[in-house]
Amino acid sequence: MSTTIGSSSQTLDEQFIRQFAGSAARFQEAVEIFPNGATHDGRAQKPFPLYIERAQGAHKWDVDGNRIIDFLVGHGSLLLGHGHPAIVEAVAAQMQRGTHYGAAHEREVEWGRRVQRLIPSAERVRFTSSGTEATLMCLRLARAYTGRSKVIKFEHHFHGWHDYVVVEEPPAPPPAGVPAGTADSMLVLPVHDLERLETVLKNDPDIAAVIMEPTGAGYSSYPLDPDFLAGVRKLTLDYGVLLIMDEVITGFRCAPGGAQAATGVIPDLTSIAKILAGGLPGGAAVGRADIMAHLEYRDEPEWNARKKVRHQGTFNANPLSASAGSTALAIVAEGWPARHVNDLAAMLRDEFNQVLDAHGLTGCVYGTYSMFHIALYNPHNPHEKLSVADYSSAGQPPFISMRDVDPALYGKMKRGLQVNGVDLMGDGGMLSTAHTEEDVSEAAAGFDRTVGLLKQEGVIPGAR
Ligand SMILES: Cc1ncc(COP(=O)(O)O)c(C=O)c1O
Repeated sequence: MSTTIGSSSQTLDEQFIRQFAGSAARFQEAVEIFPNGATHDGRAQKPFPLYIERAQGAHKWDVDGNRIIDFLVGHGSLLLGHGHPAIVEAVAAQMQRGTHYGAAHEREVEWGRRVQRLIPSAERVRFTSSGTEATLMCLRLARAYTGRSKVIKFEHHFHGWHDYVVVEEPPAPPPAGVPAGTADSMLVLPVHDLERLETVLKNDPDIAAVIMEPTGAGYSSYPLDPDFLAGVRKLTLDYGVLLIMDEVITGFRCAPGGAQAATGVIPDLTSIAKILAGGLPGGAAVGRADIMAHLEYRDEPEWNARKKVRHQGTFNANPLSASAGSTALAIVAEGWPARHVNDLAAMLRDEFNQVLDAHGLTGCVYGTYSMFHIALYNPHNPHEKLSVADYSSAGQPPFISMRDVDPALYGKMKRGLQVNGVDLMGDGGMLSTAHTEEDVSEAAAGFDRTVGLLKQEGVIPGAR
């Protein structure tokens, strides 16, 4: 590992600034161009983000030459790691043949067919350019099909950044820039309360759909009881409301057929993206043929004027994304990628928990499938040990997302891990097939040093 640990007389933040001097210099220019110097809310970082020069497999290298074990894996899109040779070859070959035909092409058919074969609910497929567009499309299809206007989402569940899904629970005013009418059409409910959901479904005849992340909000940062998922499916069927499963992260990751294949809970519509396009931009709304039929033109002017859901999009199913995506899905279909990342994530959670135990901390490292999240201490009682079971699936976990509890500590943890050669996505991350057991052990050693630094600075509540 080329990262160096500074002398203990230096604070963690001093080490960060010294080790990543090249990134600091790039950031000086970026702040004159981008708000916050950032191109994505999740990439804004204090005092500055790392500037990455190249990536391969499970690793990336910054402009100062530091090698970092990457657990962001392209915001979850790189199930096969950075620069998978088959994907690189497919995209390079496609570049030679053209990047955009503004027309139908064979690769989109091949790509769509692979999606249809893998995802149980995918009777029909419509490609988009991102996951945000995919959830927007699912919402619109649900409204067109049912003739109703409202959609239920759950607290903290993330579905991209369009106007509907950024709405939080009233009475909070609509988020900045979102019209009140749009916000009013979204009902935000707590998870794990089927009674409350049933009451809403029973009393409001204008609900078109329920949308949810199947493994819990923020890629399982807020764990979800699988029985709740099954309960939502049952209630939506009972009340004739559509279930939209947002599998932008879980699709092709939990299992080749996504969380729906893994849990057996089959939704009416599904949003997918990320792994779908093999690391290039892309998304899709998929689902029941009778619902997806609302995307069709028909010979009836009345249908086209009033029932057809409009959808354009310059880069839908573009040949580069189709080549990368189709190549990735062919590998996903072999089954071993999901098994590899799920097993490795279990090992990572285990090794990171051993670090917390060795330091006598009351937090835990939890998550499902190939995802993990770090809770550094018990937010309810910093002196009492949290069990992983509290953070898994048992009913209503005593749960507060650690990022919400203590953003300053989480910022420090992120910087500490970067100093020690590890990069996270928020309070956790995801595995790729390029990660090895050695990467996991090396990351656990980096976590150990980071926790040591944080303890030394006295910033972890309850730590002695
Ligand atoms: C569950 C979920 N839905 C939707 C999105 C939005 O996808 P995109 O960033 O491609 O717009 C994300 C992005 O992280 C996501 O995690």
